[in-house]
Amino acid sequence: MLLNIIKYPDSILRKDAKEVEKVDNEIKNLILDMTETMQKYDGAGLSAPQVGVSKRIIIADDGKEELAIVNPEIVKKSWRKQKDKEGCLSLPGLEVKIKRSKKIIVSGVDYSGKKIRIDAENLMARILQHEIDHLNGVLIIDRLNKKEKNDYEKSL
Ligand code: CO
Repeated sequence: MLLNIIKYPDSILRKDAKEVEKVDNEIKNLILDMTETMQKYDGAGLSAPQVGVSKRIIIADDGKEELAIVNPEIVKKSWRKQKDKEGCLSLPGLEVKIKRSKKIIVSGVDYSGKKIRIDAENLMARILQHEIDHLNGVLIIDRLNKKEKNDYEKSL
């Protein structure tokens, strides 16, 4: 089922999302719906708060691999950084250059409820860091200075 994407400045995007206790059918269906929604809008990733569910679930697709991670946690970050433009389905029309770790290790739980540990680098590492930010109420607009932020808000 296609889901509605919540847009900035909706307050759900600023909440600390809740841990998922069990990957039950409701969570699995949500992951499937999020995947359908991400593909429909041509996104590289999506977090549950962006579809109105304040739970710690993200999906990512770098064109090579598709991931769904429940309760993702960054356990290691490289000191080496990468810098590139990012967009966000919740902030249409905005692109921000952001510096992020080049490699990360993320722990969490997968679609089948199994514990996983993922080594990601480059684009996949960037997507995962962006989506995990969403679970903590952090958005790419937070990287802009006051004037840039005002200009974007006026354009909405
Ligand atoms: Co986003």
